Amino acid sequence: MSRQTQAIIHADALLQNFKTLAYTAKQSQSMAVIKADAYGHGAVNVARILQHVSSRFAVAIMEEAVALREAGITAPIVVLEGAHQAKECEMAWQYNCILVMHCTEQLQWMQKCEAHKRPHIWLKVDSGMHRLGFPLEHIAQIVEQHQVLITKETTLVTHFASADDPDNDFTQTQMSAFKKSVASLSMPVSLANSPASVNWPSTQAQWNRLGIGIYGGKVTTAEPSESPDSAHLPHLLPAMTLRSSIIALRDIPANESVGYGQTWRATKPSKIATVAIGYADGYPRHCPNGTPVLIRGQRASLVGRVSMDMITIDVTHINNVSVGDVVELWGENISISEVAQHAGTIDYELMTRISSRVPRIVRYQ
Ligand SMILES: Cc1ncc(COP(=O)(O)O)c(C=O)c1O
Repeated sequence: MSRQTQAIIHADALLQNFKTLAYTAKQSQSMAVIKADAYGHGAVNVARILQHVSSRFAVAIMEEAVALREAGITAPIVVLEGAHQAKECEMAWQYNCILVMHCTEQLQWMQKCEAHKRPHIWLKVDSGMHRLGFPLEHIAQIVEQHQVLITKETTLVTHFASADDPDNDFTQTQMSAFKKSVASLSMPVSLANSPASVNWPSTQAQWNRLGIGIYGGKVTTAEPSESPDSAHLPHLLPAMTLRSSIIALRDIPANESVGYGQTWRATKPSKIATVAIGYADGYPRHCPNGTPVLIRGQRASLVGRVSMDMITIDVTHINNVSVGDVVELWGENISISEVAQHAGTIDYELMTRISSRVPRIVRYQ
């Protein structure tokens, strides 16, 4: 039997999540962010599934846009890091992409590009994240000096540092500073990613850039039970189920250890299942003892270190457990956020790290 390690991609969840988020931002247009192979879900898969609801897509770099074009995706593509070299300006025109330019060097490349081969550009503004973008105080001057590059399409973009935290008013600070510095420009703007769109609806503008939310990842640090405002939180479905199967079972006596470094020791006679997934597949090596999985409808715990190709699970409490049983690592029953918390990371990293060794299988219902 072939190895049963797969990432099931739920097309209906992607569609529903996109529609849910876009519906809560009716005054805006929403585009799906499908950089980093659509956060590990397969960019071509996701673009094909969402192309009738997302009128544009966003990626990080030109190579990602070219791969989508070669797969037949026709919607305009926004390239969030803009051009990494001068020749990408003409490439962007050729491939119907919009470059988000963040520095003067990129604008100089654009000016050298033949006028009829210039792509549309957006301009990135640094409103406080201090990662990319023109300083707030320079943006009006940049626009004035580069009128030859500005079209009706040219949108001013900024990105928030803490939009997932509804209690951190830095989002409000960034938004106010941004709005003040671009007020005189009357150009379209794009502010919200999925956490901002959900937690700070006032950030919804001409274009929202939706990433983690469409994949069903966590968009807020607010706990539904803790937040009186949580009624507004959208119900998002996991778009990926990572699963594998049991390839071996053994009974061990009390006091025996399991795995590299002997980091777990049985306190009583135990049944240990070996599952065909490891850190080479993208299952995090940092997952500690106690990280949950689902087998036969029951939660069970990771025991011992994650190896390159395998993990070990304590299945002592599961009746009739057998070689071949399906194991859910995350998905409909085990939330990816819970696993991320155990691994000391975030949903984004877990999704994007699933390696090419794991086939993505698209399910339509
Ligand atoms: C500039 C930019 N916009 C939008 C997004 C999408 O953000 P999210 O996945 O949090 O919705 C990202 C993701 O990192 C980004 O870098």
